[in-house]
Amino acid sequence: MKRVLIVGATSGIGLQLAQDYAAAGWQVLAAGRNTTTVRDIAGVSAISVDITDAQQVQQAFSSLPDYSLDLLLLNAGTCEYLDTNQFDGDAFAHVINTNLVALGYCLQQLLTKLMDGGQLALTGSAVVHLPFPRAEAYGASKAAVHYLAGSLRLDLAARGITVSEIQPGFVATPLTARNLFDMPWLMTPAQASQRIRHGLQRRRATIAFPRRLIWSLKLLALLPLSWQQRLLQRM
Ligand SMILES: NC(=O)c1ccc[n+]([C@@H]2O[C@H](COP(=O)([O-])OP(=O)(O)OC[C@H]3O[C@@H](n4cnc5c(N)ncnc54)[C@H](OP(=O)(O)O)[C@@H]3O)[C@@H](O)[C@H]2O)c1
Repeated sequence: MKRVLIVGATSGIGLQLAQDYAAAGWQVLAAGRNTTTVRDIAGVSAISVDITDAQQVQQAFSSLPDYSLDLLLLNAGTCEYLDTNQFDGDAFAHVINTNLVALGYCLQQLLTKLMDGGQLALTGSAVVHLPFPRAEAYGASKAAVHYLAGSLRLDLAARGITVSEIQPGFVATPLTARNLFDMPWLMTPAQASQRIRHGLQRRRATIAFPRRLIWSLKLLALLPLSWQQRLLQRM
């Protein structure tokens, strides 16, 4: 039986992935702070952990045997929009700590748990294709995840581990429920999970969706900076 550990599996995209992998016969380890949402799902074992706390991360995963995971999916994340009139350094630190620094704690404890020839996936965001207003913290954290995935890909190749970077567009989850702006091509968590599992099955380096949004962002990024600014500042 294949085994996946999903960090950030208690809500939204991660919860859907946990349900879908369990339904497909995988043994699923689902980690997050509030594990009440995953406790009763057949085939899913809950692991309570705040990944911004290095000690908790060490304790939560220490009993996992080495080389026992086929797939490690680091999906946890948070988003806070910033106001440059009153730049909130604590909010900035919170987002960077959750979306980036905590990945370091997870990688420290979990890379040895991943079997040679296995798969590592990091959830980034389609936001990396273009700077968005008020996304100084979130965008910077996901740009860093993009680089992190690239470096890991080079270094883990020696163990036969493939690294996938997941770049979702807008998905209807508690994270985006707070967004006050229009979210083009909003997807359901079920649609996102299907795209992610399909991409992981093919060991794709980048799993970016929906295509219409990704191509729109890539085209916008080709425009002169002054045009991009005029369009994006309206958001
Ligand atoms: N939804 C979108 O449109 C979208 C688009 C692009 C990228 N993403 C990315 O996709 C990932 C999942 O987002 P989502 O939309 O599914 O959001 P969500 O419903 O808010 O889920 C976030 C997950 O991360 C976990 N998490 C957050 N902080 C944590 C912490 N300190 N320790 C442990 N777990 C923590 C949460 O668990 P607990 O709260 O139980 O700890 C939850 O399981 C994130 O990385 C997000 O940036 C989402």
